[in-house]
Amino acid sequence: YEINQDKYKEYYEILSDAHEFFKNSIKNDEKALKYMEERGFLPKDIKKFEIGFSLNERDELFKYLIKKNFSEKKILELGLVKRNESGAVYDTFRNRVMFPIYNPQNKIVGFGGRIIEKETDLPKYLNSADSVVFKKGKELFGLKNRGEAIKRKGFAILMEGYLDVLTVKRYGFETAVASLGTAFTEEQASLLKRYTKNIIIAYDNDEAGKNAIIRAGYILKKFDFEIKCLKITENVKDPDEFLRKYGKKKFVETLKKSVDFYNFLFLEFTKNLNIEEITSKRILVKKFKPFFETFENELDKELYIQKLSHEIGIEEKYLRQEFESEKSYTKKDKSNNNYIKKNSFDSKVQY
Ligand code: CTP
Ligand code: MN
Ligand code: MN
Ligand code: MN
Ligand code: MN
Repeated sequence: YEINQDKYKEYYEILSDAHEFFKNSIKNDEKALKYMEERGFLPKDIKKFEIGFSLNERDELFKYLIKKNFSEKKILELGLVKRNESGAVYDTFRNRVMFPIYNPQNKIVGFGGRIIEKETDLPKYLNSADSVVFKKGKELFGLKNRGEAIKRKGFAILMEGYLDVLTVKRYGFETAVASLGTAFTEEQASLLKRYTKNIIIAYDNDEAGKNAIIRAGYILKKFDFEIKCLKITENVKDPDEFLRKYGKKKFVETLKKSVDFYNFLFLEFTKNLNIEEITSKRILVKKFKPFFETFENELDKELYIQKLSHEIGIEEKYLRQEFESEKSYTKKDKSNNNYIKKNSFDSKVQY
């Protein structure tokens, strides 16, 4: 490990110096400062959260790093710059506010960059490419200082986006983290497990967000986390917007009302079902199958079987049978919903 640290030393130095360059570039850039101000970040917040800016220029970062005698090959490998067909090197990130991504050893391993232009065909976010020091699916945004805040507070808030994390932190919720534009992974769950076993999932307030909560929840459950899910009933897109519109007090109330993952699933799964009907009960049991297949802890599993049994009036032994029977269909067909559509009437059936 020590040897590796040494081997990657120059990569970390390049990233750290690039960060310095981005931080310096935002100081006098009116457009970038204005953009961040619109999103609620004053210069003192920009400083605190080490936010930078990538200039809307061809190769300013590249020139800066080369002047510092870093290896061109390594700068390219980190994806900070690219080479076009005619051999010219240009900066990858341009006209974006830049957020540094820290690894668990508190070293910068990459960046997320948000475009500040409103009307543009460019992707809203760009993330650093994977490199020898950065694997997107293994890192989390928001872990600066080795997850110290999460350890101290005893829980983490898992969010979708960079600006969700930054805004909730700005409001004093220091334990926010996000995956980096990819679905939450087992590696990220295992990383979080180093700091806490309590997670509040606070994804976006839309269908995609709800489905992502379910997927992340199953992963976290495999790692035996205590999982709660934030229920946003207000008409806002995500926690960032929630806080800016309703403020801290109301967010705390909402956090307190977050529901256990099981309850979240129950509410989601029964949304269009009348659980007095036999067909609905059958659908519900099928929907719950993946939940009951990912228990690490037999006692918990029994407790939840009891709970479901009482809630829908099916004897525990039948549920147990159902959930212990061959795990075939989720393997064959990962999407539980598809399975149900193929096999039952659902609420949307047209007569
Ligand atoms: N994302 C990405 N590339 C995109 C869009 C999104 O990598 N083109 C990732 C980013 O990490 C982003 C997250 O997915 O933060 C969530 O996306 P989304 O909800 O669309 O954006 P917000 O984070 O809400 O961004 P903003 O509030 O700035 O619009
Ligand atoms: Mn989203
Ligand atoms: Mn947002
Ligand atoms: Mn969002
Ligand atoms: Mn009972």
